[in-house]
Amino acid sequence: MFSRSNSPAMKFICVTLLIISGITDSRSEQYEVVGPADPVLAVAGEDVILPCSVKPNTSVVDMRVEWFRLDLIDSQLVHLYEDHVDKNTNQIESYRGRTKLNHQELQRGNASLKLSSVRVSDEGLYKCFIQSKSWYDDAIVNVSVEGNMFNSWRTSVILISVFVVLSVIAGILIAVFAHKNKERDQLLKTILPKGCFYFEVQVKGQTEWDLGVTRQSANRKGWISLSPDNGYWIVGRRDGEYQARDSPDYSFSLSVNPQRVGVFVDYEKGLVCFYDVESMSHIYSYTDQCFNEKLYPFVCLGYWSNGNSTPLIICDD
Ligand SMILES: *[C@@H]1O[C@H](CO)[C@@H](O)[C@H](O)[C@H]1NC(C)=O
Ligand SMILES: *[C@@H]1O[C@H](CO)[C@@H](O)[C@H](O)[C@H]1NC(C)=O
Ligand SMILES: *[C@@H]1O[C@H](CO)[C@@H](O)[C@H](O)[C@H]1NC(C)=O
Repeated sequence: MFSRSNSPAMKFICVTLLIISGITDSRSEQYEVVGPADPVLAVAGEDVILPCSVKPNTSVVDMRVEWFRLDLIDSQLVHLYEDHVDKNTNQIESYRGRTKLNHQELQRGNASLKLSSVRVSDEGLYKCFIQSKSWYDDAIVNVSVEGNMFNSWRTSVILISVFVVLSVIAGILIAVFAHKNKERDQLLKTILPKGCFYFEVQVKGQTEWDLGVTRQSANRKGWISLSPDNGYWIVGRRDGEYQARDSPDYSFSLSVNPQRVGVFVDYEKGLVCFYDVESMSHIYSYTDQCFNEKLYPFVCLGYWSNGNSTPLIICDD
């Protein structure tokens, strides 16, 4: 590669050439290489011209024009024009096929380099080095790449569009959901009986029973746990103990065994209360329940065969 340093050998060649061409001719060979005063602004993806020309205005067709990166360490050649042709075999890989010297313009002293499809990595300092048989000079071109202006603008538009679309979808879903909920509430209001109901069950003489309420759709077949999860809100008596299958199951005893149990249901409050009618005392309450169906009285003479022939009597007088 050609040595750019101001080496003694180089000086010697120049001096020799000057002497050979004659002192009188030497002045006409002198020129100044001029670059842009300000940094060149390039936009990623677009093309850019790196200006460089000689002053006074002479043809550089017979000269060597070398464009190289000043700020890279290993490989530096961006574009080389020598012996009337482009010689880019040693060019930096990333510039392959993207540099162009206009040979017509070279005749007019214009050695500007056209760089196509600018990349962010193109940003940096370039030197435009022009060498004739007896003279050389160079100019520095500072290239600054606006890598993200266009991209960020496009990204913003995409992000805003996505946000708007998602907002609209979310809005529609919320509206639909709210409407459905309202419809469901209204439906429930028409289906569910308003307010409360109350009934009493005579359990006198029975030692094993379950009673309370159940919803219409509750499973009635097979082995069923009589729990609110399965649609049963009951209190049972077994082996002298009382049980509510709330979560968790709750067992308790009563000082006086009730003869008549009152069951009070409040749909809106989600309440099922059990009372001992005679002593007017509270037995158990299921609270904060969610009833989305009509409830019916439920009575049962225990899980196992019950030899006791005393009936349970539902009284709603
Ligand atoms: C130099 O040549 C380039 C094309 O390579 C052109 O765009 C630019 O205008 C020319 N400059 C002058 C001063 O003619
Ligand atoms: C050099 O001179 C020619 C006319 O001879 C002109 O067309 C051209 O623009 C000049 N180039 C520069 C870089 O000034
Ligand atoms: C090149 O230009 C940029 C501004 O675009 C500036 O920040 C930087 O200092 C310049 N580099 C040189 C060596 O002049």
